[in-house]
Amino acid sequence: MVNSAVNNGIHVPVMLNEVLDYLNLKKEGIYVDCTFGKGGHSRPILEKLEKGKLIAFEWDEETANLVQEDKFFLSPRFHLINDNFANLEEHLKKMGIQEVDGFLFDLGLSSDQLAEEGRGFSYRLNSPLDMRMSGKSKLKAEDIINNYSWEKLADIFYHYGEERKARVIARKICYRRQKEKITNSEQLVGIIASCFSRKSDKHPARKVFQALRIFINNELENLTQALEIAFKYLAAGGRIIVISYHSLEDRIVKQIFKKYPSNKFQIITKKPSTPAQQEIMENHRARSAKMRVITRKM
Ligand SMILES: C[S@@+](CC[C@H](N)C(=O)[O-])C[C@H]1O[C@@H](n2cnc3c(N)ncnc32)[C@H](O)[C@@H]1O
Repeated sequence: MVNSAVNNGIHVPVMLNEVLDYLNLKKEGIYVDCTFGKGGHSRPILEKLEKGKLIAFEWDEETANLVQEDKFFLSPRFHLINDNFANLEEHLKKMGIQEVDGFLFDLGLSSDQLAEEGRGFSYRLNSPLDMRMSGKSKLKAEDIINNYSWEKLADIFYHYGEERKARVIARKICYRRQKEKITNSEQLVGIIASCFSRKSDKHPARKVFQALRIFINNELENLTQALEIAFKYLAAGGRIIVISYHSLEDRIVKQIFKKYPSNKFQIITKKPSTPAQQEIMENHRARSAKMRVITRKM
């Protein structure tokens, strides 16, 4: 069953109160929302900044363009950058910013992107196999599914989706594509589903779709690169907050946080913070959220 937040495409910000508490906003501070989405976190942050500045990144052109329709974000204290957050340093340098009081990463996709036909992100909708976060990227899911060797496909499904049946699924894809080109998500979901004999509560295509999206958009590399830059620019007392939705991302965040010396940085969330049961009931997307927070000591 598709959850209501995905069904109607309305994005609800995850762990909003926790984000605002942990950010510990200073009215004159400089903050970076690396994943603007629908501005669900940016809006209340900006409301609280009297003299400060909020810089936001959004890689998806369609999502970034929507902000122009919203007068609230015309504020001179807000600046949206339509680019990959992996390029964080280049933009901070251009703006002459040397220190940032807080970085927020709310990773992955918004409910709206998932619900958008034509993007190919959802295994629940029939769409062309695209899955690019930005239209400027070249590689689409369709290119991978129809052209990569079975070994390479299996490798992607295993490493980025932790899919145990990676090899079986990869072989089946290669067999099917000899008969007809695989161009839409319905075809791909059908092939994947045929590799599973037992029914499960979880959708059989979940892991393969995650793997393709991560691979196509270089998601793990982008996160690693941006986090390292965030550490470099974090002001004393400043915070980095990361909300991740799968174990591969969370592992990266945990490892990078641990790498920085405890005499200079303090991990605020010893264990990742998770949404309250009530929030999970109201917003299905929140169910897998894990939040980690670190601060640079004063
Ligand atoms: C989970 S949504 C963020 C939702 C937002 N916090 C809100 O409540 O409205 C993640 C957003 O980050 C964007 N995104 C993902 N990877 C990105 C990257 N590498 N650089 C910039 N934006 C990215 C996606 O396009 C998506 O809009």
